Amino acid sequence: MAVDYTTHDGVAVITLNNPPVNGLGLSTRAGIVDGIERAQNDPAIKAIVLTGAGKAFSGGADITEFNTPKATQEPTLGTVIKVVEGSAKPVIAAIHSVAMGGGLELALGAHYRIAAPGAQIALPEVKLGILPGAGGTQRLPRAIGLEASLNMIVSGAPVLSEKLADSGLFDEVVQGDLAEAALAFARKVGAKTGPHPRVRDRKIEHPNAAGFIQFARNSVAAIAKNFPAPQKCIDAVEAGVQNGFDKGLAFERECFMALVQTPESHALRHAFFGERAASKIPDVPADTPVREISKVAVIGAGTMGGGIAMNFINAGIPVTLLETKQEALDRGLATIRKNYEATVKKGKLKPEALEQRMALLTPTLSYDDLKQADLIVEAVFEELGVKEQVFKRLDEVAKPGAILASNTSTLDVDKIAAFTKRPQDVVGMHFFSPANVMKLLEVVRGKATSKDVLATVMKLAKKIRKTAVVSGVCDGFIGNRMIEQYIRQALFMLEEGALPAQIDKAIEKFGFAMGPFRMSDLAGNDIGWAIRKRRYQEHPDMHYSKVADRLCEMGRFGQKTGAGWYDYKAGDRAAYPSKVVDEMIGEFSKDTNAGRRKISDEEIVERLVFSLVNEGAKILEEGIASKASDIDMVYLTGYGFPLHRGGPMLYADTVGLYNVERAIRRYASRANGDAWKIAPSIAELAAKGRGFNTNG
Ligand code: 3HC
Ligand code: NAI
Repeated sequence: MAVDYTTHDGVAVITLNNPPVNGLGLSTRAGIVDGIERAQNDPAIKAIVLTGAGKAFSGGADITEFNTPKATQEPTLGTVIKVVEGSAKPVIAAIHSVAMGGGLELALGAHYRIAAPGAQIALPEVKLGILPGAGGTQRLPRAIGLEASLNMIVSGAPVLSEKLADSGLFDEVVQGDLAEAALAFARKVGAKTGPHPRVRDRKIEHPNAAGFIQFARNSVAAIAKNFPAPQKCIDAVEAGVQNGFDKGLAFERECFMALVQTPESHALRHAFFGERAASKIPDVPADTPVREISKVAVIGAGTMGGGIAMNFINAGIPVTLLETKQEALDRGLATIRKNYEATVKKGKLKPEALEQRMALLTPTLSYDDLKQADLIVEAVFEELGVKEQVFKRLDEVAKPGAILASNTSTLDVDKIAAFTKRPQDVVGMHFFSPANVMKLLEVVRGKATSKDVLATVMKLAKKIRKTAVVSGVCDGFIGNRMIEQYIRQALFMLEEGALPAQIDKAIEKFGFAMGPFRMSDLAGNDIGWAIRKRRYQEHPDMHYSKVADRLCEMGRFGQKTGAGWYDYKAGDRAAYPSKVVDEMIGEFSKDTNAGRRKISDEEIVERLVFSLVNEGAKILEEGIASKASDIDMVYLTGYGFPLHRGGPMLYADTVGLYNVERAIRRYASRANGDAWKIAPSIAELAAKGRGFNTNG
């Protein structure tokens, strides 16, 4: 049963009981209506308490039902709320914890609301690309006013119940036992004669509603660029302000039905579930015991080591930071302090918190200080010999059961594990730069990595607020292995006729945060050069355009040398198309007889994105990633892939794998076509009319 019904001396208590978050799926909705009717028909009942079991009052509509027949099957949430609101006996919503989306809308339909402090109150629909579709845009403004409600609706951000104590939303915020208080409140209002107050009957008072609505529209313009929902939220609130509750409600419903079908909403829901799915590893059960991580050590205080250490101290976990030389240690600590100082300057961290965080950091030059660490993350130079020295030493000093992690971006984690006598405790933790900012953490599972190590690292990742995705061992893991194909295509297109600014502009218009050439200039073109030199040795059969090598031979390593694919001016990060580089590219095409032709923006986007998709499909075929949404999460959180497109694999599904296959085969038959060895699964899925993320 999704809903429990009990009676307590004249009060009926309807308890939503649909774990994990009391989502308002069909059976829960039907259960509420049944409960209300049962209470109406029982003369002994004077009032009804509506509450939730477990960790939420309600997390809202059941998102898994969206775009299925169940979503619109009666009783819909709109009907449930009508029944609640129309109840002749007063209904009191008792909110002990999360009341979000449809959950809050349901509570707004009740005649009274009481809450415990600490309950998270939100209308987060906008984060799923939709708007509150069960009266939220109409009742919340009537409950807490136009400005506060628009802020909540457009941001989707949760507000703690105690902060809303005087807002008009709650009749009481109760410090003690909420269940007891709810019964007492119910008995009090049950004694009153009806009709009982309805939020819908309240007025929206505002001295200049039209002006504020316009201000809200301007404020969301930037975030709303690729998403229709924020503006629709404002439209719906405005409709209620101008035309009254019923017309506003009808308009809200219309907008909801349209938005739920949009690719943007689909993409955001994919990301919501993808994030949660990423933490589930198919052969590692949810109840796998985890190791306790209360002390961490980081080896190497360079670019990555410093950022990695910050992640742990931000979460209150003490870190011992080890370097080989005092100067390097001092430099690393100074950088960490400088980063925190910048956050203090922005007003996002209190000065005393800075000192508290620094106090959690213990610098050392001695391996003896690592003996207590539960987890040791290595971030030293990217050379197997150096990693060997470090891991052999760690094997000697680390306590039994300590997890030994490497932040390597290109080396073989199995080889690193083999430097120790405890390969089961070794795992890759591949952070992205800047490590204290970027959300993505690739967790690299070696062939010997034990399940409890994986479960521990995945749990820890949540604590340090990373999106962790498991990758098998391969060159580049998930993210960098795919990006290499993307960069290859970008370079081929230069020699075939495009210029850096055209390619960057086309893919940025598609929605990428930064095109490949601006990105390379930022990261340093010398890094890619070093990787290619290694590739020329290891994979002489693999064909690369050498146009980037020529750029590096000119010493144009990017922003750090003031010149790369673009020109840069001192004190200005803007990228200016470079005449010298564009001429060099023209010369290069001539020298290699590549011939230059006009390349359309559509071709640019297809070649860049489908090269990711093709490699992603191979990664799935090889089991390096266990599901397509994991690949999408890597690209959404680590590579600036546009969120409104949901990641490369979802985008491929949206385009249709039949069309993706045709495009890849077309590019494979042209110049530089040898780079397109189509992944068999694309054709197989296309033939079945399926996508990477669909089962039907
Ligand atoms: N529908 C379906 N499943 C949901 C859900 C929902 N509304 N909310 C959460 N879940 C599922 C999650 O997918 C997860 O499933 P899993 O265990 O199989 O991975 C499980 O519940 C637990 O979720 P979390 O791991 O996120 O648990 P937390 O305790 O960290 O957070 C929460 C709980 C704050 C409720 C968070 O899950 C959340 O923010 N949920 C989404 C809330 C939301 O967006 N509500 C609006 C829905 S749309 C709506 O109501 C439309 C209406 O206006 C008509
Ligand atoms: P870095 O050169 O900035 O820092 C390396 C630090 O390790 C230096 O401070 C050095 O003194 C120290 N070090 C070297 N040998 C040591 C030893 N034996 N014991 C203790 N300390 C030692 O390098 P960076 O960029 O921080 O990279 C570190 C690791 O992280 C590499 O494996 C790299 O591939 C990986 N990585 C780098 C990313 C980046 O964007 N820079 C992204 C993801 C991973």
